[in-house]
Amino acid sequence: MDAVDRCQLRLATPADRGFVLDLSARCFEHLGDYRAILGGWLAHPGVRTTLAVDPTRGPVGHAMQAFTRGPLDLRPTATLIAIAVHPVARRRGIARLLLDAALDLAGAEAPLIDAADRMRLEVAADNPAARALFTGVGFVHRPRGDGRYPNGQRYLCLERRLTPAHHTAPCAPRA
Ligand SMILES: CC(C)(COP(=O)(O)OP(=O)(O)OC[C@H]1O[C@@H](n2cnc3c(N)ncnc32)[C@H](O)[C@@H]1OP(=O)(O)O)[C@@H](O)C(=O)NCCC(=O)NCCS
Repeated sequence: MDAVDRCQLRLATPADRGFVLDLSARCFEHLGDYRAILGGWLAHPGVRTTLAVDPTRGPVGHAMQAFTRGPLDLRPTATLIAIAVHPVARRRGIARLLLDAALDLAGAEAPLIDAADRMRLEVAADNPAARALFTGVGFVHRPRGDGRYPNGQRYLCLERRLTPAHHTAPCAPRA
């Protein structure tokens, strides 16, 4: 069995900050200063960051989430702030594993967060891999949330309903 197929999920600790920010910079720096932007989110006590950890390589991916409330929102929304997988570990189901875990966590916590019932995220319009990842689990385009990243690229706002028991098939990464 490939080591990637044995990935485990755990919450990040302060010791994981370097991994999370290095991978974020590598994946998102063309969009803006995402080492600094995500560094700010990471330090916030309301943000949950989940790591996918390969027993041989160590951490290979992360997903960062929080409940937020925009000025026009009637209730808080679970926001997927970022999800990223190291290039050496891609196309093995790790992002899907992290995304399912993020939906499960948000679905479990939502009833405690002023009846939040949706997860929302932003994805670059020219990122077909990520768009396929998200639409594959039911996210749909919410045009009024669209905008631009700090460096000007267009992003699309996607959204899906949370369910208290968002449970998908067993989350083993694929071979
Ligand atoms: C997008 C990203 C997170 C996907 O990670 P991954 O672990 O390779 O994704 P998975 O193997 O779990 O793939 C799940 C689904 O995503 C889609 N997908 C992933 N990579 C894809 C690619 N290169 N081309 C097309 N679809 C892709 C597919 O629908 C795939 O399902 P399938 O394998 O049944 O076709 C990864 O490419 C990445 O880190 N990119 C840089 C950061 C980023 O763009 N993050 C998203 C915006 S916040």
